[in-house]
Amino acid sequence: MIAPMAAPIVRFQNVSKSFGSIEILHAVGFDVVPGQLLGLAGENGAGKTTLIKCMLDFCAFEKGVIEIDGMPSRRPEARSSLAFLPERFTPPWYLTGREFVRATMQMSGTAWNESAVLSTFADLDLAASSLDKPARAFSKGMTQKLGLAACFLSRRGLLVLDEPMSGLDPSARVRVKGLLRRLKDDGKSLIFTSHSLADIGEICDHMVVLHCGSVTFSGTPGEMLERQSETSLERAFLKCIESSSHG
Ligand SMILES: Nc1ncnc2c1ncn2[C@@H]1O[C@H](COP(=O)(O)OP(=O)(O)O)[C@@H](O)[C@H]1O
Ligand SMILES: [Mg+2]
Repeated sequence: MIAPMAAPIVRFQNVSKSFGSIEILHAVGFDVVPGQLLGLAGENGAGKTTLIKCMLDFCAFEKGVIEIDGMPSRRPEARSSLAFLPERFTPPWYLTGREFVRATMQMSGTAWNESAVLSTFADLDLAASSLDKPARAFSKGMTQKLGLAACFLSRRGLLVLDEPMSGLDPSARVRVKGLLRRLKDDGKSLIFTSHSLADIGEICDHMVVLHCGSVTFSGTPGEMLERQSETSLERAFLKCIESSSHG
């Protein structure tokens, strides 16, 4: 007997988006099911950030439908179950780490819990002293960790992270990858973008390849390797986008 498929937490259907006369996304369609850790792979300029902006109603799109929890993504309540970290995260420079995290926790209806905050900061190797420093005194890596901490602490069921590993040093990348994999045990879902196939292979149970605004693959990393008869995800990805460019 085939188990019934869970209703998707996010559904992209036929999404097309232009900037001016140039179409950037071409009939993009795929589902994210609850509990899935989904990696959106693609070269720079493929349209990953644009697709996320469409999903979050930061920009309009001309064609197609995006649903979150079965609701049109343009309805504010559709976005009430997700936490988002933008590609270039810049917290208000005058807020301390504590003030920023407190504000984001409040927005998601999560009560301040000092030990949970300290434990998340420790998981990210972010010094407890940064709670009392203004964001303007944070390095790039610390700023990125602060944004990630706020997402992890929000207790929201879906994390949408645009290039979450950017600006992190190797040891921080290892920590963040571990935390992202752990989301699965907490029953959370994840959509994250990356141009690093290694990161996608290590974290995701599902990957979608976006190439020049079109989906050229949607499946598990294992299926990607099988389809391209490769053992390296990076080579399989390159084959996948080359064949779509020539096809
Ligand atoms: N506001 C904008 N106006 C015009 N073109 C844009 C805008 N934002 C993105 N683009 C273009 O859309 C394409 C996809 O960009 P983006 O979604 O940022 O790609 P990715 O996140 O995959 O690197 C690029 O060609 C980029 O130049
Ligand atoms: Mg981007």
